[in-house]
Amino acid sequence: MSDFDLDRVRADFPILREVIHGKRLAYLDNGATTQKPEAVLLALDGYYRHANANVHRAVHELAARATRGYESARDTIAAWFNAAREEIVFTRGTTDAINLVARSFLQPRIAPGDEVLVTTMEHHSNIVPWQLAGAKTVAAPINDAGELDVDAWRAMLNPRTKLVAVVHCSNSLGTINPIATLIAEAHARGIPVLVDGAQSAAHIAVDVRELDVDFYACSSHKFYGPTGFGVLYAKREHLEAMQPRDGGGDMIDTVAFDGSTWNEIPYKFEAGTPDIAGAIGAAAALDYLAGVGLQAAADHEHAVLAYATEKMSGVPGLRLVGTARQKAGILSFVMDCAHPHDIGSILDQAGVAIRTGHHCTMPLMKRYGLPATARASLALYNGKDDVDQLVDALHMVNRLFA
Ligand code: ALA
Repeated sequence: MSDFDLDRVRADFPILREVIHGKRLAYLDNGATTQKPEAVLLALDGYYRHANANVHRAVHELAARATRGYESARDTIAAWFNAAREEIVFTRGTTDAINLVARSFLQPRIAPGDEVLVTTMEHHSNIVPWQLAGAKTVAAPINDAGELDVDAWRAMLNPRTKLVAVVHCSNSLGTINPIATLIAEAHARGIPVLVDGAQSAAHIAVDVRELDVDFYACSSHKFYGPTGFGVLYAKREHLEAMQPRDGGGDMIDTVAFDGSTWNEIPYKFEAGTPDIAGAIGAAAALDYLAGVGLQAAADHEHAVLAYATEKMSGVPGLRLVGTARQKAGILSFVMDCAHPHDIGSILDQAGVAIRTGHHCTMPLMKRYGLPATARASLALYNGKDDVDQLVDALHMVNRLFA
């Protein structure tokens, strides 16, 4: 933690200076979306002021600037994940990336009754796309702490399993899954693996080659970049074999009324004018994160997580949901005295932003017999003062509802 300067990091995020209902903002809804540093805001502004044009099309100077910015963003993102640049497909986000794999990879390869093995803690985005593609989703169980039962998971692999799809870090519980083990075990049976990295990309170093993962999906807005932009990493051999999902401009090689041919990877999956600013902003976010140091940020977040876990456990009537040994900065909880939505409203009045609800993980809520939880989720700019503000407000909830 010694090389991590919280005050300096906070100064990089202008929105943290907002005053909410007369109170200092304690932004603890980072699982939903992270705030953006000045470097990202400047990159977006700079693009629209000095480089706005379409990519891969015209020969004028602005088009060249836009194309350079867009493609150098691909280089930055590929380097971040240790992928080849042609293995990085730009998408609208994690959800879009998973849907692309479901439609273009899975759907043509399955027969009725074929399965995708998921876990009980998956986000709806890692359940519904497989169902829409015609697969049966089978979920491996978790224990009460929110840890995957790996033995049960292993026992569920079978010849009908056409894909393993697993969340790296649970958005509702914070559990970090042992993805290296799961990938190795699935591969030993010839089964490809998709990892949902929405909650992990900003907090855990991911080397797709070392992991040997087939597909890894993430969203820029959860790693301090803009919304509406995401990444699908896929092994070259898969991308080469997959058909495009969307037709349109830029994804073609030749077009004729009696048939068309496709552009090379990754462009055959990027139909239409892309989110150019999104790509440039996402790359700026990764550059920013590299400047802070991902490990330094993760160490800091872990220290805040430990502090929050202890302080919140001392709030009467509060129960943490998700106490895995391997855990990222997510604290889901319920309170005896109040419904999560009421907790969220009272916390908002105290300047504390959290998320409440089922967190797009209905099967997980069912597993715990809960309709909803309240959830505080950390980012690199959170500190113990945010936790203190949260905990003071939780005591207030107790006083108001007692
Ligand atoms: N999946 C995001 C969350 O967990 C939106 O809040």
